[in-house]
Amino acid sequence: MKIAVFVSGRGSNLNALLNLPDLKKLVSIVAVVSDKIDCKAFDIAKEYRIETFSIGEGEGRVSKYEITSVLKNLDVNFIVLAGYLKLIPDELLKNFENRIINIHPALLPSFGGKGMYGMNVHKAVFNSSAKVSGASVHFVDNTYDTGKIIAQKCVDISDVKSAEEIAERVLTIEHQILPEVVKAFAENRVKIESNRVVILK
Ligand code: GAR
Repeated sequence: MKIAVFVSGRGSNLNALLNLPDLKKLVSIVAVVSDKIDCKAFDIAKEYRIETFSIGEGEGRVSKYEITSVLKNLDVNFIVLAGYLKLIPDELLKNFENRIINIHPALLPSFGGKGMYGMNVHKAVFNSSAKVSGASVHFVDNTYDTGKIIAQKCVDISDVKSAEEIAERVLTIEHQILPEVVKAFAENRVKIESNRVVILK
């Protein structure tokens, strides 16, 4: 499976995908795409000699109309949003139906939607007094965080003293669940059955 990973920031989930030994045999990350001109995740991509693309207007960037053909020319057949904070262009959604997934740092359908990313999510969870949080991996559609949920993992946060502590615990879970789900797709073990998504063992 040839993957493009979309990022906007630090790239720790990209790193997790690059470092799971099991995954190396099954998938190759051939492009790292961002809405930013530069970001920390691009440094990781460059270290691994993976091509980087910045979506936007202007010199050296790829427009949202061109990105589909750029990825198709690289034979990309699966897209992972790993901390990507923008909506996906319609053309790309159409061409990669049920082939774009996102990791969200909370238990959807709670704590999702526009503006709910990164620390905003963890602050909202902290302020809600919830006793568990976790990570969700879901299919991407044309709105924020509403696609079908593929996998979730919980973490106990009953004793945390800050939103930062929640972020730390959830990130550990993210780095497990995202590579696991990508592996399941690469092994063709993800099925959509009567409106639910099932990962076969
Ligand atoms: C991750 O926690 C990811 O779940 C979150 O951004 C962070 C990116 O970290 N994504 C969202 O909040 C999307 N709504 P990373 O760049 O180190 O992987």
